[in-house]
Amino acid sequence: MINKKIQNAIDEQINAEIWSAYLYLSMSAYFEKENLRGFANWMKIQYQEEITHAMKFFDYVHSMGGHVSLKPIAAVQTEWKNPTDAFKDTLAHEKVVTSLINNLANLAVEEKDHATLNMLQWYINEQIEEESNAEQILAELKLIGDNGYGLLMKDKELALRVFVDPTKTPIA
Ligand code: FEO
Repeated sequence: MINKKIQNAIDEQINAEIWSAYLYLSMSAYFEKENLRGFANWMKIQYQEEITHAMKFFDYVHSMGGHVSLKPIAAVQTEWKNPTDAFKDTLAHEKVVTSLINNLANLAVEEKDHATLNMLQWYINEQIEEESNAEQILAELKLIGDNGYGLLMKDKELALRVFVDPTKTPIA
């Protein structure tokens, strides 16, 4: 049985993961508007990934005999100055999520909840990849600068991203 403090903290994290999904879907809509369909595709897949992050927590709580209480999802930004601006926000947001996951792990240690701590290892590893992906694209966008051809090439590359459920792929 999951304890109440851990249950509440995971409920908050489910909300944060769904908010992340909503943010990236909003970025996808922004890129569609800018005719950058590859960037829009990348963000749509990011949205799908965030839903899997939320669902992994959702399923974990129920597998431990708990009960999830869903909370309202706050509004998200809908406009960005340019792709670099959107990826700066993406990286900053992923850093916030990493700190939320670390706080959850700290709580699991305090509560001596080894099952939750073990489950959280997956997220700790996933966040390394989440930050690294955003960092890489942001660095490339800084190199591209105002070069329209460079941006179109990057757009074509990001159009190739396909959704693979990350929760079904164990991270070493
Ligand atoms: Fe669910 Fe992008 O972290």
